[in-house]
Amino acid sequence: MSMGPMRRPVVAGNWKMNPPTLTEAVALARAVADAGDALDGIDTVICPPAVWLGAVAHELEGSRVAVGAQTMHFEERGAYTGEISPLMLAGLATYVLLGHSERRQYDGETDEGVARKVASAVAHGLRPIAAIGERLDERRAGSTEAVIDRQLRAALSGLDTIAGSGLVIAYEPVWAIGTGEAAEPSDAQSVARQIRGILHERFGDDAAAVPIQYGGSVTADNAAAFFALPDVDGALVGGASLKPDQFAAILAAAAASA
Ligand code: PGA
Repeated sequence: MSMGPMRRPVVAGNWKMNPPTLTEAVALARAVADAGDALDGIDTVICPPAVWLGAVAHELEGSRVAVGAQTMHFEERGAYTGEISPLMLAGLATYVLLGHSERRQYDGETDEGVARKVASAVAHGLRPIAAIGERLDERRAGSTEAVIDRQLRAALSGLDTIAGSGLVIAYEPVWAIGTGEAAEPSDAQSVARQIRGILHERFGDDAAAVPIQYGGSVTADNAAAFFALPDVDGALVGGASLKPDQFAAILAAAAASA
């Protein structure tokens, strides 16, 4: 008996703190929709800065391209200056990126905070993209596996089940982000397989439904090599997601291997 497709690849563009104007943000969203709407078999997401979420969501009405937030607070409301609550994302975002290494590095995001955010996202019907990955010093010290184990188990610690959660895991080695030095596909596969194993240990067969993205200097030239890996299902794309032609080529490569 055929198992059928267990999971759909998710290709997400993380715009970070770009572009600087509303006009450019809407134009970029339009360009992604024009490319993404023609493709089958993948889920396409763009994660604009929070101030552009409303305009981008409006531009994407009727498109298959989904909107993601780049972070959120785990509480629904309260005295958290500058923060965005899961309730505020209702109707604007389908996904929320959580635990990105830049937030861990510059904004004090901890494993414990990521755990609370992942649980809150699921409780509010948002698909979390939980980002994990080792730094260069950790890799050099041979502790990649231990770091992945710790970060992943922490991120999952607030969940009793992942059935219906829409959970996505993004494996992003920190040293590969924005450096032009992507991981070797074989290294990405071995970490993705480790992630799949931990998911299986925690949640049994539901683990097979979780897309595991690779992220870190994904380009139109190297994307297909990652999409061909058995445990990698899509990508989290930073720099190349700001270039419509590059991102369109990455989406096309994902659809071709889906
Ligand atoms: P990059 O960023 O594609 O520019 O390396 C990836 C990310 O930070 O999600």
